[in-house]
Amino acid sequence: MKLLVTGGAGFIGSNFIRMYLERHADCEIVNLDKLTYAGNLENLRSVEDDPRYRFVRGDICDRKSVDDVMPGIDTVVNFAAETHVDRSIGDPEGFLKTDIFGVHVLLESARANAVGRFVQISTDEVYGPAMGEPLREDAPLNPRNPYAASKAGGEYLARSYFLTYDFPVIVTRGANSVGPNQFPEKVIPLFTTNAIEDKPLPLYGSGEQERDYMHVLDHCTGLDVIIEKGEPGEIYNVGAGNHMKNIEMAKLILKELRKPEELIVHVQDREGHDFRYAMDSTKLEGLGWKPLYNTRDAILDAVRWYVGNPGWWKPLKSGEYREYYEKMYRQRLDEAGASG
Ligand code: NAD
Ligand code: TYD
Repeated sequence: MKLLVTGGAGFIGSNFIRMYLERHADCEIVNLDKLTYAGNLENLRSVEDDPRYRFVRGDICDRKSVDDVMPGIDTVVNFAAETHVDRSIGDPEGFLKTDIFGVHVLLESARANAVGRFVQISTDEVYGPAMGEPLREDAPLNPRNPYAASKAGGEYLARSYFLTYDFPVIVTRGANSVGPNQFPEKVIPLFTTNAIEDKPLPLYGSGEQERDYMHVLDHCTGLDVIIEKGEPGEIYNVGAGNHMKNIEMAKLILKELRKPEELIVHVQDREGHDFRYAMDSTKLEGLGWKPLYNTRDAILDAVRWYVGNPGWWKPLKSGEYREYYEKMYRQRLDEAGASG
């Protein structure tokens, strides 16, 4: 099987590529990635000399770059996206481009090349807040920030190719993933690396919000099962079904690192902050998938990885990122009377 993985130099994509090469001896993978701030070839050092793997730098919005790599591909797995909610609130345009238009370019090229399967990686955020029972795949969508709305647009477009052209599209909706190689703007690596450096943990609002923090390897094994056994035209939730409040997550990280809870600083809440995500993944479990980590173990595994790999995240927290962090948090932390 020959896979085109887009966005494979990012967090989930790189974990997926490493796992897939390990699990499937006879596969080939082409990784097409633009290498935005979130793409990092360090994540793929361990496989860069594997003859079954090839990296190509390119933008999924650019038809030529996509057409160049598409011939001979059996399955497209589209991870490429702008992914951070806070950035989407500040500057939505890049999200619309990559997360909607980029999907269109990939679909057109894949259809022209009669690709056998197109897996669009989407997110639980398209459902919006889930305050009651965990949501199944047929629940109405209610995206409430530009990231979630762009991802909803991308998956609607992908599904339209199944409904209109009978093109074999599958949509997956993953929960908040945690683990190695996550860019330190997302909450778990941000809080962990801040705590290691004795810096404040900027907790949005009350901290009572809940997420289904799922180990990235569980997300990736779910995708592996879907690629193998999923039905074209279907949508699959990928969530471990565990939940934790952000305040509990912050305390868990601090306890593991033996740092004081005083590092937690309640700052101004995120605009339109979704209170809780909760998905029912029974449909995927029906294909034989079972997550291995509960939320606590997933978070602790991630924390230990950042403790053991300062050489990975320290360079990412300087330069351009420092500017972003200053812009993003300075006012929030100043208002809360904390130094960053
Ligand atoms: P990430 O931000 O870590 O990585 C995104 C990758 O896409 C980077 O390597 C980046 O260089 C690449 N990229 C961005 N724009 C591109 C473009 N125009 N062309 C080619 N490559 C481009 O993201 P992630 O957290 O690994 O998420 C991967 C996918 O999974 C996304 O589609 C995201 O919406 C989805 N998802 C993420 C989570 C999560 O918790 N992180 C949960 C559910 C779904
Ligand atoms: P994040 O990792 O950005 O993922 P998402 O918004 O896609 O779920 O945030 C996870 C949760 O953590 C979310 O409820 C917002 C909260 N959060 C903070 O409290 N402080 C922060 O600095 C960040 C980035 C997030």
